Amino acid sequence: MAMLVKAALAFVAVAALIAYYCHEPVPQDIAQPGFFATQGITFRTVHHMAKFGEYIGIGTEPANLRYIMEEMMRAAREKKGNYREGLKCTDTTFDGVRVRVYEPVSAGESSGTRPGLVYIHGGGWVVFSVDVYDHLTAHLAKQLGVVVVSVEYRLAPEHKFPAAFDDSVSATRFFLQNAEKYNVDRTRIGISGDSAGGNLAAAVTLALAKEKGLPKLKTQALIYPIVQAIDFNTPSYSDHGHLNTLSKDVMVACWLWYLNNDQSLKAVFKTNNHTSDQLKKSQYFGYVDTKMQPKVVIKKENMKFPDIPNIAAILDPRLAPLMADDADLKGLPPTYVMTCEYDVLKDEGVMYVTRLERAGVKVEHDHYERGFHGLLNHFDVYELGGTAMEKYVMYLKKAL
Ligand SMILES: *[C@@H]1O[C@H](CO)[C@@H](O)[C@H](O)[C@H]1NC(C)=O
Repeated sequence: MAMLVKAALAFVAVAALIAYYCHEPVPQDIAQPGFFATQGITFRTVHHMAKFGEYIGIGTEPANLRYIMEEMMRAAREKKGNYREGLKCTDTTFDGVRVRVYEPVSAGESSGTRPGLVYIHGGGWVVFSVDVYDHLTAHLAKQLGVVVVSVEYRLAPEHKFPAAFDDSVSATRFFLQNAEKYNVDRTRIGISGDSAGGNLAAAVTLALAKEKGLPKLKTQALIYPIVQAIDFNTPSYSDHGHLNTLSKDVMVACWLWYLNNDQSLKAVFKTNNHTSDQLKKSQYFGYVDTKMQPKVVIKKENMKFPDIPNIAAILDPRLAPLMADDADLKGLPPTYVMTCEYDVLKDEGVMYVTRLERAGVKVEHDHYERGFHGLLNHFDVYELGGTAMEKYVMYLKKAL
């Protein structure tokens, strides 16, 4: 009898532990709550495993994260069948940067009039790869009938800012200059990316707009982009920072891996203590504030910062596109922005839309009230992701 009671107690304890572990915050009106919860639990588990690995001396947290996620995605991709049919896929280098080029074999192959699209994958500058995004980039090439170039930029923290930015600029510039090799019309090349890839796409667009003698990018399409690192207490960070599809904790960790690889600063960043009072009162905080409160205009070179490695970069548009001045935003190509309600990055995405519009840039903005960060990656298995993909493709068809 005592045995049985012990067994029952052990069972209850294990069940409670599992229930506790699997309990996932799910917003009431999220689309397909079951799918969302599974995503959250998976991400959280993977993060715990990656941390635990480092703790017991196996790898580092970011390298473990990369490895586990890559393997999971590979397994999922292998179930998707022959999705590359109708495409010629080539791994090559553009100005020393590894890229994968997707060419639709039937669409204007020799005419030199087909459009092109540079795609920059997400993953917090730390994880994922051209391979992980193979299914999505192949889908874009086929749906759009355009040549897609997917960029294998160097990842943090092994390669800190501005490595990923530099690689993205180099590959994009090379494509603009060598479009005819792929029978692409150099005046019809756009750029796109999601999350950290949206950050890089926006930063590349800002940088190349200033280069003389280059064809202009036709459009930038930014999918829930990361665009600022000065305010980690925006309403969307405060309201949704606990969601495991992209928690505040993970977002701040990614920023630190990319900026200076010093995770001991996490608490400082989370409380906005990485910015001075002077910065908090400046126009830069106005750029993040949806009410655009009047601010004191301070030049970047006069800004004071706490003693943190590389901290002044948080005002550099190559790192944080929302910190660009109005003059830099003027004249940017027509822009598409996708945001999701259940995403810490919603507010900054909306603010980028607002600032571009005020600078006279033509902007289309799709906001998904019931969507969460990363939904586009699940376009073939998650209904709202499918809808988002359709509208995004529709925009690109029109804009390229
Ligand atoms: C942030 O700054 C506030 C005010 O100076 C201070 O009370 C708090 O302890 C700081 N927190 C961290 C994590 O640095």
